Amino acid sequence: MSELLHVEALSVSYGAGPVVHGVSLAMGAGSVAALLGANGAGKSSTLRAIAGLEPAQGRIVFDGQDITRLDAAQRFRAGIVYVPEGRAIVTDLSVAENLTLGSYFVDSRTRAQRQQMVLDFFPEIANRLKAPAGLLSGGEQQMLAIGRGLMSAPRLLLLDEPSLGLAPLLVARVYERLARIQREQRLSALLVEQSFHAAAKLASRAWVMRHGHIVGELDSAALGSREGRQRAIDAYLGARAEAAQAAHA
Ligand SMILES: Nc1ncnc2c1ncn2[C@@H]1O[C@H](COP(=O)(O)OP(=O)(O)O)[C@@H](O)[C@H]1O
Ligand SMILES: [Mg+2]
Repeated sequence: MSELLHVEALSVSYGAGPVVHGVSLAMGAGSVAALLGANGAGKSSTLRAIAGLEPAQGRIVFDGQDITRLDAAQRFRAGIVYVPEGRAIVTDLSVAENLTLGSYFVDSRTRAQRQQMVLDFFPEIANRLKAPAGLLSGGEQQMLAIGRGLMSAPRLLLLDEPSLGLAPLLVARVYERLARIQREQRLSALLVEQSFHAAAKLASRAWVMRHGHIVGELDSAALGSREGRQRAIDAYLGARAEAAQAAHA
């Protein structure tokens, strides 16, 4: 497994103290990795810093190249594509126009091919191409947001909480599609989630984040075992740590 992304001692602050403290992680090409944690843990800040959208300290190496000094546009051109939390699609543009936004820089033939690939993965939006994106359901909007990210043929997709605001059945469906895209297109993705179980099923590596720190790491064996997942959920919730602290207080 060749290393695609290597993050070393990443810290992010917004003025006051850091909200991401020395986060280090690495992942291979063709795999899905997940950063799990509760609301406010620092997941989005980490992802946005990797995309070059937040100033950060530390070092980021992408496919052997040190990209720490590259801005967001340069990282995008290198193949790092960020799909924001809350499915930031343009609601008054059509579905097709939203897809085009993800690949405005390629020739029309390539764009048509990629659009066909996206629509094969997400048939729900295929017959709504001319509809304003704002009329899509929440699940369809999330599919559109992921589809738009795929339009540039990313080398690394950064997915910020694809499950946010979706009913459980739709979360499962979005994750099923991601699994298929990963298998068939050898997608590399780093996703962040509060929804532990959906992400744990798809990812082959995961980190648990609390208060800006990585507090646990799971490999595919741990993610595949009940006990491993339970350990991670404990770290995620901080249940044991806090119970132990209370007992000693
Ligand atoms: N632009 C910002 N300015 C100031 N504080 C922020 C900003 N974005 C996030 N934060 C704070 O940083 C912390 C981590 O936020 P975030 O990375 O969004 O966490 P998560 O994605 O895990 O919910 C939170 O305390 C949040 O309030
Ligand atoms: Mg977030």
